[in-house]
Amino acid sequence: MKSLFKKICIASDHAGFKLKELIKDYLINKNISIIDLGPINDKSVDYPDYAKKVTNRVKSKKSEVGILVCGTGTGMAISANKTKKIRAAVCYNLKSTRLSRQHNNANIITIGSRLTKKNTALQLVSVFLKTKFEGGRHLRRVRKI
Ligand code: RB5
Repeated sequence: MKSLFKKICIASDHAGFKLKELIKDYLINKNISIIDLGPINDKSVDYPDYAKKVTNRVKSKKSEVGILVCGTGTGMAISANKTKKIRAAVCYNLKSTRLSRQHNNANIITIGSRLTKKNTALQLVSVFLKTKFEGGRHLRRVRKI
């Protein structure tokens, strides 16, 4: 898998911790480096705190894209989208993932660990990282956000 992005970060809450570790291993095995912003175990934490760690990095361009995992993907997306310049998409199948990049130029993928099979989640990450924004009319719309 060839990623369009070189600077990628990831975080989760307790519900997403195991899947975060799996995604990290998957990318590292593919020689894609990734910065892990925590947590370091599955003790209960609050997802907005970890969404913020990723949005801070993406907003400041230290990372080009981010990956956020919680139980449903929803809390992470709601939190992340409060930050300017962030376009976080809850991705739940290949099509929603591909379109979030092609049409919305999403810079964060959020995944629900409780709703997504492990292999599917890895495929979603792969599609997210290799799909280009289409620009054109979509750029006009993204600029209006
Ligand atoms: C944590 O139990 C759960 O609420 C969280 O992971 C997420 O699903 C929130 O949207």
